[in-house]
Amino acid sequence: MSTLTPRAKILVVDDELGPRESLKLILQDRHEVSTANNGDQALACLDQAEYDLVILDIRMPGINGIDLLAEVKKRAPDTEVVMITAYASVETATNALRHGALDYLIKPFDRQSVLDVVEKGLSRRAHSRNMKNKLHQLQLVNRALVEEIERATRNIQRHFLETVSSLVAAVDAKDSYTKSHQRRVVTFALLLGTELGLSIREMGLLRQAAILHDIGKIGVPEQILRKRASLTPEEFGIIKQHPVVGAQILSPVQFLQDVVPLVLHHHERYDGTGYPDGLKGLAIPLGARIITIADAVDAMLSDRPYAAAKTVAQVREQLRLFAGTQFDPQLVELALRIDLPSRRITQSVPGSEGM
Ligand SMILES: [Fe+2]
Repeated sequence: MSTLTPRAKILVVDDELGPRESLKLILQDRHEVSTANNGDQALACLDQAEYDLVILDIRMPGINGIDLLAEVKKRAPDTEVVMITAYASVETATNALRHGALDYLIKPFDRQSVLDVVEKGLSRRAHSRNMKNKLHQLQLVNRALVEEIERATRNIQRHFLETVSSLVAAVDAKDSYTKSHQRRVVTFALLLGTELGLSIREMGLLRQAAILHDIGKIGVPEQILRKRASLTPEEFGIIKQHPVVGAQILSPVQFLQDVVPLVLHHHERYDGTGYPDGLKGLAIPLGARIITIADAVDAMLSDRPYAAAKTVAQVREQLRLFAGTQFDPQLVELALRIDLPSRRITQSVPGSEGM
């Protein structure tokens, strides 16, 4: 006999003393054998300890062997069960196999058959425990891999955003009034988002979109961005392309899919006269409506080629004036609750915008 499970715990359940003691005698040298003389006693034993193998008489007063088999399998599916029967009821024993018993022993017992059946049961239990352990190990390895992949994905996304953010900073540098414009738009958009009670996910999207909203200006020549005189219709046409160009740049990036509409529509107007699609009212994505206000507030507070910076009071007045035409009126109400930073100097200290 192998020693796969040395001194396994075995429970013998039989209402007759003879078979019960005979099984105990055969097995007790090698295993720890407990006995029970009815179903209730057996269940009490099962409540107290975990058994590797249970040997059950099919015919017992009270709870019969088949019902007890079902109960053992319900409590401890890995515990192997061997049924005991007389010649007369081999059919019942076969039925027990269908209910999950490992095998059956026929009275009177043949010592070697008992040892063989018990050995088979213990091997099977050891094997299934082994498989369970392996499965558990695999699940742990799998979980660690998933976490590793998620971490790597987050890193790639962060690096991508940092790279693109530097790119946008380069666009800012081309544009004479937009020194750190991007960062200030992010800060104000997030303040508005907080007033609105946006979720963490929505705030994340808003932040990314606010960073990236003007990335399409990469495609606008510097002389147009910096032009002090009024723009020709053709030049204005080129400027108006920047949300579309921005959306085209970001569209292939899988994790920025939800950011694309916000970038595409950040120059729509609430009354439908904006660009590129002339979307109106609530048809404009909420994040885009927020960025429109944040973008305009920062532009008004900054010196631009064609206009000096406005005071905070003037900006608030403009927001009120254009509520319902350029801006979402409900968002304007929220924006007016926020303390605007006074900034009549064009060049703010980099990194001082709280981003
Ligand atoms: Fe823009």
